[in-house]
Amino acid sequence: MTDFDTLADGLLQSLTDAEMKRCIGELNDRFTAGRHRLAGYGDDPALVSAYAAFYLPTNMQKLPFVLSQLSGFPLTLDTPLEIIDFGCGPGTYGFALYEWLRAQHVSPLNHTTFHFIDAAPLMLRQAQKFRQMRYPEMTAAFGASVPQRQAGVQRLALFGNVVNEMGGSAFNRLLARLDPDAMIFIEPGTQESFRLMSEVRTLLLGGGYQVWYPCAKGEACPVAGRDGEWCHQVLKASLSPSVARLGQLAGLDRTIMPFIGHVYSKQNKSGLEGIPDAPLSVSGTLFRLKTHSKHAFFWEVCLQTETGLSLVKVELPKKNLTKAAQKNLARISAGQRISFNVQKMLGDGTWRIENVRFDTTG
Ligand SMILES: C[S@@+](CC[C@H](N)C(=O)[O-])C[C@H]1O[C@@H](n2cnc3c(N)ncnc32)[C@H](O)[C@@H]1O
Repeated sequence: MTDFDTLADGLLQSLTDAEMKRCIGELNDRFTAGRHRLAGYGDDPALVSAYAAFYLPTNMQKLPFVLSQLSGFPLTLDTPLEIIDFGCGPGTYGFALYEWLRAQHVSPLNHTTFHFIDAAPLMLRQAQKFRQMRYPEMTAAFGASVPQRQAGVQRLALFGNVVNEMGGSAFNRLLARLDPDAMIFIEPGTQESFRLMSEVRTLLLGGGYQVWYPCAKGEACPVAGRDGEWCHQVLKASLSPSVARLGQLAGLDRTIMPFIGHVYSKQNKSGLEGIPDAPLSVSGTLFRLKTHSKHAFFWEVCLQTETGLSLVKVELPKKNLTKAAQKNLARISAGQRISFNVQKMLGDGTWRIENVRFDTTG
């Protein structure tokens, strides 16, 4: 469901091009420079419709990217599941997860209930409309409060661009009520949001959760406290022509989307330490792509070393890579999990690497 043409009929309010341009611009301003005016956009049917038309189909793409970086699903899939999409807006990540589970042919989808929760009644109405139109077979409930936990049902909570709106203290209070087995966060890719997600990470690691993504281990973050640097992912997305057109109308580029994705679970993760039958391989998360020269790619990778999580500079020579491989590597995204073999440690601390593989499941 990433095409605006297929959503247009289901919007709460149909908008002309001029209204769409104004409303997307207004939302963008509230989410960035004008954050003091953030509250209340969910009470305006034109803004809710513009959000649903533009941010839903672009945001949705971030979830499969994050899930494809994991070695498996953060919960077992053989018992009933309930998905809590908290701050669901028009249903963005609940629908994205539903589509992803359906594409994986996950059999317990029939035993999975989706709870769409939002403080804004118009957002819930918009989500209900899309559900009726696009996913009539989905077992779904819509409301403003967290449902009681049921025995024998695993709970996965999705937080899409909402922790930054509710703040750390409200999130702490919510966590006690929600008590999820696993959580997926997709928050803005800003430094401010990184600070907040670092607090959330500390809270969850101290509360019996394991981090599945983006960190290899729950040790001290090597980026925390560094001036002007923060850990985030950058998704290079392909947009349908109708969504790209909305972006052009509003003057916003959503083909490159920075965001912060984190995944936690109470369940032990397995297989995240690299490809099992490659004993010399090292795995980590691409932290930053540096400019590549004629001869090599230069990246920084966050990985587990003897002294804990560290940022390591790596250099991948191009000479043994096919043209097709070079083209693929030029398009990879920060946040992608990779494995590689270390060929040589260079004098300046850079690792020369080879045999790069993507630890993706998608
Ligand atoms: C930026 S939208 C995100 C929508 C969707 N998750 C997405 O990422 O596309 C944030 C949503 O969170 C809701 N929200 C903010 N604070 C909330 C709270 N304390 N409780 C419930 N919903 C909240 C807002 O009403 C809004 O619909």
